[in-house]
Amino acid sequence: MNAPELTPVQIAWLQEIGIDRRMLAHYVAQGEFGDPGEPGARPGAAAAVQARAASGAAERSVPAAAAVAATAVGDPAAAVGARRPGVPPAADAPARVPPARPAPAPAPAIQAPPAVTEAAADWDGLREQVLECRNCALHGARGRAVFGSGDTQSPQLMVVGEAPGGADDRAGLPFQGKAGVLLQAMLAAAGLDGETAFYTNLVKCRPLGNRPPTPEEVQACMPYLRRQIALAKPRHVLALGGWAAQALLGMEGELDTLRGAVHAIRTETGEEASVVVTYHPAALLLRPQHKADAWRDLSLLRSLVAASGD
Ligand code: URA
Repeated sequence: MNAPELTPVQIAWLQEIGIDRRMLAHYVAQGEFGDPGEPGARPGAAAAVQARAASGAAERSVPAAAAVAATAVGDPAAAVGARRPGVPPAADAPARVPPARPAPAPAPAIQAPPAVTEAAADWDGLREQVLECRNCALHGARGRAVFGSGDTQSPQLMVVGEAPGGADDRAGLPFQGKAGVLLQAMLAAAGLDGETAFYTNLVKCRPLGNRPPTPEEVQACMPYLRRQIALAKPRHVLALGGWAAQALLGMEGELDTLRGAVHAIRTETGEEASVVVTYHPAALLLRPQHKADAWRDLSLLRSLVAASGD
């Protein structure tokens, strides 16, 4: 029997009710439907991505941008592998190869990313540089840059989101809105200590309209995140959503291909931190059917924390 052909509207509807891409893969060519987690989780974000793709601007996906940033600035926080608990690092890393995608269109010229200056060698200097940053267009519409908050001294956990929202922009603090409330509830339910984590984002200024950050914005802001990771020296990093995960790990791949494994990154100063990827809480507010998967991700993180004696 031939597989039925699905229209884009049918595909979107099936995704809304929780039929994921793996189940749809028999019927739909790769790339025909949007990311069920991020950035499609944000109202209008999937449309924005599609619009950018249509205009030729978004063929450079975030992972491509991350790769550019990695080579351009020497990516000290480059991913050093992916593994499952109890499996030696090298054993199954190749199994995480993301599905093939159409070749990206050549990216327009991107300015060299600004270096984090010498003055940002400590938390105060870095904070000052971020709060005054004008390295991308986002500074023009921000209320405040959102540097990050929480435990800065070797926290057990660093949580990396995508970008500040409206409430965060007003408060100058991350995760102030509904997504933050859900995040705290999820961490607590999984037995993770949200009180002592450090919270920050891939980009420090709010993109207007809740759109995902562009590759240029991510590239401009990555040096700050790298320096934050180097200064904080977290033992574990939780990446929220595909955009944060791809940029942090310097890996291509849909959210689902990055979840379910323990990745590792090396900081600018050589320490290793494990990275677990899960859905962005804003995605879970829109698609609660993914909460069970998020629970599994956080349980994986909890097992790492327990194994490291924290
Ligand atoms: N608030 C944040 O600080 N980050 C997100 O990713 C979402 C909301």
